[in-house]
Amino acid sequence: MRWKKTCSSAIVILFCICVGDAFESFRLPNTTVPTHYDLFIDTEVHNDELDYNGTVKIHINVLEDTKQIVLHSSRSTLVNVHLKNNNQLPLRVINHDFDNEREFLVVNTADVLTGGSKVVLEVDFLNSLNRTDRSGFYRTSYTDSNDTLKYAGVTQFQACEARSAFPCYDEPGIKATFDVRIACGVNYHARSNAEIASIAMLPERKKLVTFRRTPAMQTYLLAFLVSDYAVKRDFANSTKKITVQSMSRPTRADQLSYSLDASIKLIDELQTYFDHPYEMNKLDSVGIPNTDFSAGAMENWGLVTYLESYFLISESSSDNNRRSVATVIAHELAHQFFGNLMAPKWWSYLWLNEGFATLYEYYLADRTHPELLIKQRFTSGALQTALQSDGSATIRPMTHYVETVPEIDRLFDRIAYEKSGSVLRMMHYALGEQTFVKGLKDYIKRNQNSIVVPQNLSDSLQKSASEDQVLPTGATMTLIMESWANQAGAPVVTVSRPNAEADDVVFEQKRFFSTTQSTENNQTWWIPIFMYSNSSGGSYETSPLFWIPQGTNQVTRKIPVQEDDVFLINPAQTGYYRVNYDQQMWKDIIGTLKSNLTAIDPITRGQLIDDSMNLANAGLLDHNTAFEIMDHLRNSTDYYSWKSAHRNILDLEKMLTVDPEALSLFRKYLLELTNDLYAEYGTDKRTYSHTNDHDTQLIAIDLTCRIGQQGCLDQAANKLNILQQRSTLNIRSEAEQKLYCYALRTAKQFDVNKFTEALETEEDSRGRSYLMESLACVGTREGLERVLEVLMRQNQNVNRFLEIVAEQGESGFVMVVDFLTREKENLDEVFGNQRSIEKLLSKMVTRIVDKENAERFRQLMKVLPVSADFEINIDNQLDEQIRWQELNLPLVRKTLQQYA
Ligand SMILES: *[C@@H]1O[C@H](CO)[C@@H](O)[C@H](O)[C@H]1NC(C)=O
Ligand SMILES: *[C@@H]1O[C@H](CO)[C@@H](O)[C@H](O)[C@H]1NC(C)=O
Ligand SMILES: *[C@@H]1O[C@H](CO)[C@@H](O)[C@H](O)[C@H]1NC(C)=O
Ligand SMILES: *[C@@H]1O[C@H](CO)[C@@H](O)[C@H](O)[C@H]1NC(C)=O
Ligand SMILES: *[C@@H]1O[C@H](CO)[C@@H](O)[C@H](O)[C@H]1NC(C)=O
Ligand SMILES: *[C@@H]1O[C@H](CO)[C@@H](O)[C@H](O)[C@H]1NC(C)=O
Ligand SMILES: *[C@@H]1O[C@H](CO)[C@@H](O)[C@H](O)[C@H]1NC(C)=O
Ligand SMILES: *[C@@H]1O[C@H](CO)[C@@H](O)[C@H](O)[C@H]1NC(C)=O
Ligand SMILES: [Zn+2]
Repeated sequence: MRWKKTCSSAIVILFCICVGDAFESFRLPNTTVPTHYDLFIDTEVHNDELDYNGTVKIHINVLEDTKQIVLHSSRSTLVNVHLKNNNQLPLRVINHDFDNEREFLVVNTADVLTGGSKVVLEVDFLNSLNRTDRSGFYRTSYTDSNDTLKYAGVTQFQACEARSAFPCYDEPGIKATFDVRIACGVNYHARSNAEIASIAMLPERKKLVTFRRTPAMQTYLLAFLVSDYAVKRDFANSTKKITVQSMSRPTRADQLSYSLDASIKLIDELQTYFDHPYEMNKLDSVGIPNTDFSAGAMENWGLVTYLESYFLISESSSDNNRRSVATVIAHELAHQFFGNLMAPKWWSYLWLNEGFATLYEYYLADRTHPELLIKQRFTSGALQTALQSDGSATIRPMTHYVETVPEIDRLFDRIAYEKSGSVLRMMHYALGEQTFVKGLKDYIKRNQNSIVVPQNLSDSLQKSASEDQVLPTGATMTLIMESWANQAGAPVVTVSRPNAEADDVVFEQKRFFSTTQSTENNQTWWIPIFMYSNSSGGSYETSPLFWIPQGTNQVTRKIPVQEDDVFLINPAQTGYYRVNYDQQMWKDIIGTLKSNLTAIDPITRGQLIDDSMNLANAGLLDHNTAFEIMDHLRNSTDYYSWKSAHRNILDLEKMLTVDPEALSLFRKYLLELTNDLYAEYGTDKRTYSHTNDHDTQLIAIDLTCRIGQQGCLDQAANKLNILQQRSTLNIRSEAEQKLYCYALRTAKQFDVNKFTEALETEEDSRGRSYLMESLACVGTREGLERVLEVLMRQNQNVNRFLEIVAEQGESGFVMVVDFLTREKENLDEVFGNQRSIEKLLSKMVTRIVDKENAERFRQLMKVLPVSADFEINIDNQLDEQIRWQELNLPLVRKTLQQYA
């Protein structure tokens, strides 16, 4: 490849030694800051020519006397590097160096640049879109209706990839304005964050597109699209007139209406809800074919990019497809305030972006699309997965300082998203929606177009909370937020009534660990206690009865509870914590579940399943109680409770895989548990009258086929036969996909070729995923190897395939380990980047509960290009999981034997 051909590797090593010594930190020195960029990019992508070149002029303020300008650059070949002073006069540049490890470009000047002066750094560079890591400014392609392959150029700069497209100060806390100009073919169009200001014709059927100035923003938000994509346009009007456009490859133009409509509704709702105008006058959204996009979506200010699966809706799309489109759009549009308008000072505070985006992907989308019941999914979706991750002894806190790129990439995890979203949701209820949103409005007004740290949020929430007098004495928002954001883990609140007659209820807080720890832990939090009892009439379900202060382990309250009252703490998991009860209270709850299921809502029933099973597996409750709680599902087909149960059932299955006898007892138990569910949602259901029906059916199929229920397996085999007789083999729904998956697991014979051919010709992004996900279930080693071969040849998302294969049980797992070992030299080509390898490994490791596979995995780590701290993390996780399994297996087996 032609990047960086000007420096030989020997020279690079020398640079690393001499320059590396000069920089201790991976962060840019603070001697210079950019205020404005003029960026010109010249593309030839319309001619299938993927190299591009450009010029960037960076207007820089010199803060301290220095003879160096240090910024980021990687991949670009620099042709000219010039420096000018404020009066356009050249300043002498001695040379420029690269610090490859830090991805620094160091420009050394002959004379001291004096603090307070302004300079302009001008760099001409060469680069290419022809890269396979789906990062930076890169190519995507599609086949048009004439069967011609068409290329487009698109960007993905978050977290640290703007520097790989052009030289820049690539940190989230550095904002500058951008004037962008892009040259492209006349048949193509160029888009960037801001509106188009003018278009001028160039020779050779090219044009120059000049964009208006952007607001001051961080580099990772910059975006370009150079394509011949179709465009659909409308306007949002509620707060101000905004031109809203949705784009996709032309062959998908008929699937843009839903997301266009959702984008309009959501940008209007965002502005209304927070009483603040969106900064720009236009909002473009682009769907990128799944194979060419590494994220789910990216919030580039004014030019949001999406995976096609999260963007396109056709007639045959399910409510679940619609739900994911609406929520992902809500997530990205929430970022237009939380992240874009207010940038995090450093990656440590990524949760200020992703926490709010996660909360509002549910809570804003629920306002614009109430028919999809989105808000109700928060607990079984985001919150319970967050609590599960947070049970690990080695988990990080929300605010977490790191410096290097791999460390930064790893911050995009369940803590930044699901945990932070859950903590913010708790505050929404703890303060009350009105007070919370009033605080956020203040936060936005005060910090707009600026850079934020968590203290800014606490200050605004404090102001609002003080006005409305919603905090207990001794509590401040700073203390409350710090207790959640600066400490790792989450608490379990244990509730007991030592003397029921006296109405005394004792609350105790402690950090929850999924495996018992040898050392005492004394962490405490500020915990808002929510409560439900028949007699309280719902007053404390969504506003706190009281707070347990940080530093206080135990609190006793007088709460009158009637004999046959339903008494629950933290109903619907409003607060981000688990709840344990004393034995009698659990008995009462089980009694209620047996006698009158409707007395407890399905979301709270899901919570009871999740809490009790996790408490049991952590040694804090007996497994019998947890199974008795789960038992109520025999009489229930509610989505939310089954959704929570599903995750826990898969965990138990994983625990039992090494014990065939216990596993078969568990399957027998499940067969009875799923009886009603299968009867109602079995494989035949075709019409979905309720918006959750499709997803409930998915769970029904997954569980019943998984445990080998004959009706389900027969249906699956049958469907596979019919599918293979069709002339075009395509899959159009997730429920179908699940069935094919189970059919392919056990199929003695099936037409691999027919499937892989279908994969090659399938144009629909979702259809392609369904095919690939089905193929990942293939039960034989030879079959899997053949599929993998085809996928590699087709340049498909092999990592996604391997992820699913590894989830399919022992043989799939071993096959993936073997593949990674065998291909260890070529993994960069297969995966594009280290991040994807680590993502796959992180997924795989959660499956391992036995020593043999743990050892296999440790060996694999040793030969793969992963960082040392990643390896240590994996090691700890393996230890924890094996301990978890060894402790629980005998207990679960015993409980199951009692059931048999
Ligand atoms: C730059 O300044 C910030 C404080 O404004 C500091 O946190 C950071 O460490 C400094 N960076 C370097 C490389 O000195
Ligand atoms: C930049 O590309 C254009 C065409 O894409 C070409 O005319 C020009 O010579 C290139 N400049 C450099 C420095 O390669
Ligand atoms: C992209 O790079 C690959 C590998 O270097 C090369 O085989 C291919 O022809 C390039 N594609 C284009 C369109 O330049
Ligand atoms: C396909 O080819 C025909 C004939 O050359 C042409 O008229 C038409 O515009 C082409 N369609 C596309 C999408 O390029
Ligand atoms: C906003 O107003 C324009 C006319 O100014 C209209 O074309 C458009 O449909 C309106 N948008 C909505 C969502 O009502
Ligand atoms: C909590 O434990 C840590 C270390 O285990 C200790 O340093 C700290 O002093 C303890 N704090 C309290 C309040 O006991
Ligand atoms: C199911 O409901 C019936 C009556 O409606 C009840 O007798 C039975 O105990 C319930 N089963 C479970 C497991 O809750
Ligand atoms: C079951 O609980 C619901 C909700 O609390 C209540 O309305 C209903 O009367 C109860 N049914 C019985 C049979 O107790
Ligand atoms: Zn996000």
